[in-house]
Amino acid sequence: MTEYRASRTAVLVCQGRAVADGRLAVGRFADPIAIELLDAAERTPVERVRNGERAHGFGESMELELLASTADVMTTRTVFIDDAIREAANPQLVILGAGLDARAWRMPELARTEVFEVDQPASQQDKRARLGELKPEAATVRFVAVDFARDSLSDLLEAAGHDANRPTTWVWEGVVPYLTPEQVAATVDLVARRCAPGSRFVITYSTPSRTASFGRKALQAMLTLARRGNPLQHEPQRSTWRPEQWRDLLGDRGFVITDDQDLLSIAELLGMTIRRREFLALGHCVVADRN
Ligand SMILES: C[S@@+](CC[C@H](N)C(=O)[O-])C[C@H]1O[C@@H](n2cnc3c(N)ncnc32)[C@H](O)[C@@H]1O
Repeated sequence: MTEYRASRTAVLVCQGRAVADGRLAVGRFADPIAIELLDAAERTPVERVRNGERAHGFGESMELELLASTADVMTTRTVFIDDAIREAANPQLVILGAGLDARAWRMPELARTEVFEVDQPASQQDKRARLGELKPEAATVRFVAVDFARDSLSDLLEAAGHDANRPTTWVWEGVVPYLTPEQVAATVDLVARRCAPGSRFVITYSTPSRTASFGRKALQAMLTLARRGNPLQHEPQRSTWRPEQWRDLLGDRGFVITDDQDLLSIAELLGMTIRRREFLALGHCVVADRN
């Protein structure tokens, strides 16, 4: 039987949004809920980065640098995805691998939208405990426990009340890298079958880079050595993708790609101060529509 643990990368990206809120791309990015979803220990490094405090020693400087870089990534992809959701204005929103995504709690534009949050069971339980009594802005939020590697997304969504005959916006943010190419293709298949005309699929993915893969391993080794806790420890990267692979994968399943941008281009459009250009350029966001 699969043993689940709550995702640590979900906490890391939530910390990144909490670092960015009110500081990066102000007026275009905001996530005031992110800090509320973090516990006291998780908030401490967030506050240190926000206050521009100097790190004590090598381990802490690695940890704070990781958070600052994560904040840049989260700002760009959040703005891109929020815009895509608003533009589609569909009556249903399915967030695949939702983690600590706060859209249903922070976007008033979702007041008439039914939101389905899909995630593996332990991450979902952890989120529900963190949410406490927080009231959503969305019309409804339903939690659907799914392991993309094992469960039938389609059956579980159907049982949760998702209507495949009404248009849906699907968001798959920060999840594809943790799945094998086969698991990704199988999930795209299942999503495609539940897409009425007008549906939209928004996906983030990482493009291949030997340097980035080496950097990721080196960072993890240094965090472990410095006993700072390694948030990537149990969530290895399993796939990277090139834009033309998405064109084929999505095109074969009846989607038309209407946008595909790298995070560096988005950061430039937002007028952000860019610290690690090469790193940002590896991340992409793609929008595919079903006409
Ligand atoms: C980096 S977090 C991203 C969370 C959220 N989408 C965001 O951007 O804030 C990765 C998420 O993918 C989920 N995930 C990873 N593998 C999964 C699988 N096989 N089935 C379901 N969820 C999975 C994790 O539970 C986690 O919530």
